[in-house]
Amino acid sequence: MGEGVQYETQGAIAVITLNNPPVNALGHAVRRGLLESLEKAVADDGTKAVVLIGSGRGFSGGADIREFGKPRPEPLLSEVIGRIEASPKPVIAAVHGMALGGGCELALGCHHRVADASAQMGLPEVKLGLIPGAGGTQRLPRLIGLKPALDMIASGDQVGAARAKQLGLVEEVVDGDLRAAALDFANQVIARAETPPRIRDMTVDASGAEDVLDQARTNAARRMRGLTAPQYCIDSVANAIKLPFDEALEKERGFFAELEGSDQSAALRHLFFAEREAHRIPGVAKDTTTRPIDKAAVIGCGTMGRGIAMSLANGGIPVTVLEVDQSTLNAGLDMIDKTYAGSVSRGSLTEDARNARMALISGAASLTDIADADIVIEAVFEDMDLKKDIFTKLDQAIKQGAILATNTSSLDINEIAAATKRPEDVIGTHFFSPANVMKLIENVRGTMTAADVIATVMKLSRDIGKVGVMVGVCDGFVGNRMLYAYREQAEFLLEEGALPHQVDKVITDFGFPMGPFAMGDLAGLDVGYMVRQHQRKMNPPAYREPYIGDRLAEMGRHGQKTQKGWYLYEAGSRTPVPDPEIEELIVGVSKELGIARRDITDQEILERCVYPLINEGAKILEEGIAIRPSDIDLVWIYGYGFPRGRGGPMFHADAVGTKTIYEAMARLFEAHGALLRPATLLKELAKSGKSFADFQKEATVR
Ligand code: 3HC
Ligand code: NAI
Repeated sequence: MGEGVQYETQGAIAVITLNNPPVNALGHAVRRGLLESLEKAVADDGTKAVVLIGSGRGFSGGADIREFGKPRPEPLLSEVIGRIEASPKPVIAAVHGMALGGGCELALGCHHRVADASAQMGLPEVKLGLIPGAGGTQRLPRLIGLKPALDMIASGDQVGAARAKQLGLVEEVVDGDLRAAALDFANQVIARAETPPRIRDMTVDASGAEDVLDQARTNAARRMRGLTAPQYCIDSVANAIKLPFDEALEKERGFFAELEGSDQSAALRHLFFAEREAHRIPGVAKDTTTRPIDKAAVIGCGTMGRGIAMSLANGGIPVTVLEVDQSTLNAGLDMIDKTYAGSVSRGSLTEDARNARMALISGAASLTDIADADIVIEAVFEDMDLKKDIFTKLDQAIKQGAILATNTSSLDINEIAAATKRPEDVIGTHFFSPANVMKLIENVRGTMTAADVIATVMKLSRDIGKVGVMVGVCDGFVGNRMLYAYREQAEFLLEEGALPHQVDKVITDFGFPMGPFAMGDLAGLDVGYMVRQHQRKMNPPAYREPYIGDRLAEMGRHGQKTQKGWYLYEAGSRTPVPDPEIEELIVGVSKELGIARRDITDQEILERCVYPLINEGAKILEEGIAIRPSDIDLVWIYGYGFPRGRGGPMFHADAVGTKTIYEAMARLFEAHGALLRPATLLKELAKSGKSFADFQKEATVR
């Protein structure tokens, strides 16, 4: 039978097996194979029923995402599914592992569904900026009801086997051999000699529908701000109660086609592949054996140490925490417990899960207590002498083969590694605050870091549900280095005529959850101030830096925690309120500097903040600090809230055009000086009519 699909018979049952590793994506060959197999089963008089099953890791990971954005050869998936549903002989889907997107829709086109306990079913299309385009928005609400279907489709979240059974998405969850159980099930269906039941013939209970739809729209607008696809998902599901099946299906196809061609979907698909590409690291072979990580230790139970310990425990890894003394340790562990308790009271964690996670976290009194840890992550104060001292001691105390990691946000990993006799085991694992929430880890390789240490830390990042991106050593690594460029321009804009709320509004309108000033207030203006003071000492800048931010920090206006920063905050509120005192201060600084304040347009604000960020990204690529543009995109999406629908700064740069950005940077450089010098790479791409995607393709060595 067609490539990617196997056909065999067992008595009166035809078994069609999807066989397209690694995830049985429903590419053209599979769709054709499915149709041919079905036709064969229908034509064969000896065949009374069909079992459709997946080989390998699961049933199917859905449509082949690589085919999107290009013309798709027939048969289309919706046609294949329609033909299965119309089959006069019953078709039983046997689901193990993932049945996602088109994979789930394929199961919905079948007349019966059975699963084993490993099944994970869902319609994650919304996460790719799409809606389910092969009947999912029509069949799922018919099968499981409007609200549960909306929840699944608008969130893209998947459900496990038990929940799928509860929802009626599958009829049976079987133990043991799925294929044998599905054959049994098929024999029972044959014995009943019924007309194959079709989901399209069912109706959706429309009572209370308007309220359910309104609620879904409100939730989607809040949780997926700025993204188009969730509202389309809801509109399409709404058609399940408004329109006849075929008409609604036609509309669904129209919505899908529109979204498939949208910039947002292209950006979200880019991020899907970027996350997977990030694991391909030059110098680290794909089959590198990773070191087992069964036990971890964290040094320091402050802001970051606590979050890191929780991240490890959330990923099921036992973790031991070390502090300067017992009372600081107890206070840290207490804060961890309180954070989990907060999640329980908000309903995002069960009491059992909280207890299980707390049971994985323990305190230690000395380094000897953590000597057998497989990885130690240091998160003490940002002080080179202290870190070196700790690494010298770790080298003496911790077992050979362990990974010695530092969470430093700016210090030189090579210098820290040199404090040990095993620099090959030393690596940076730069978590973002709050570490238990933020998904990014910038993993920083030193010059001596061993390949298996890199592979292990990248795998660990994924195992604990984070997005790991491998970067090299430089001041600020990738994310913070780009942030400096962005923040500096935001502050220069204040000196020239803008006000914090004006800048922040442009940036939030662009899609960031917060502008640079509200963000500074959240992070604490004293924190950035201390980092800058340190940097100035280590590496005195060759240009005049903006200084309003420093002045605020020196005035004790540290942001939300002091209720005053760039904005005012009422007690207990996180809502920034513009402060006339700050406006006065800003105007005063312009005067001191002899700058005539001018009206600054929103477009200029956007260009002055976002283009230097991209420009710095280009320099980072030139220097080989980031492996590829898409890695930078991940850093900014998962660490800094760059709008997902724009795919990250480098993807956005391509959407704007490298030529446009280069020309703007050249203009800004003329007007505002050296800090805005266009990167050589940006210039080269602009001059040769190329994009960062072209650069990535050319740089990719497989
Ligand atoms: N199409 C094409 N390639 C896919 C794919 C898909 N649907 N799903 C996964 N792959 C590729 C990955 O890119 C990766 O390739 P690589 O090895 O070259 O990097 C490989 O398969 C393995 O994927 P993962 O590393 O992600 O493997 P995991 O085991 O961690 O996860 C998965 C498997 C849960 C299936 C995950 O890959 C996933 O979430 N895939 C996307 C699922 C999805 O969004 N499906 C909907 C597609 S849209 C659709 O169906 C439209 C329909 O409504 C018409
Ligand atoms: P913090 O001040 O909240 O915590 C540091 C903790 O380390 C304190 O509890 C302190 O008692 C403990 N400590 C100090 N010396 C120790 C020793 N010898 N042994 C054991 N514990 C010791 O600092 P924070 O913010 O958690 O930062 C830690 C590290 O993480 C720094 O390197 C920082 O640059 C980095 N980082 C911080 C981020 C942030 O947003 N706070 C973000 C990313 C990285």
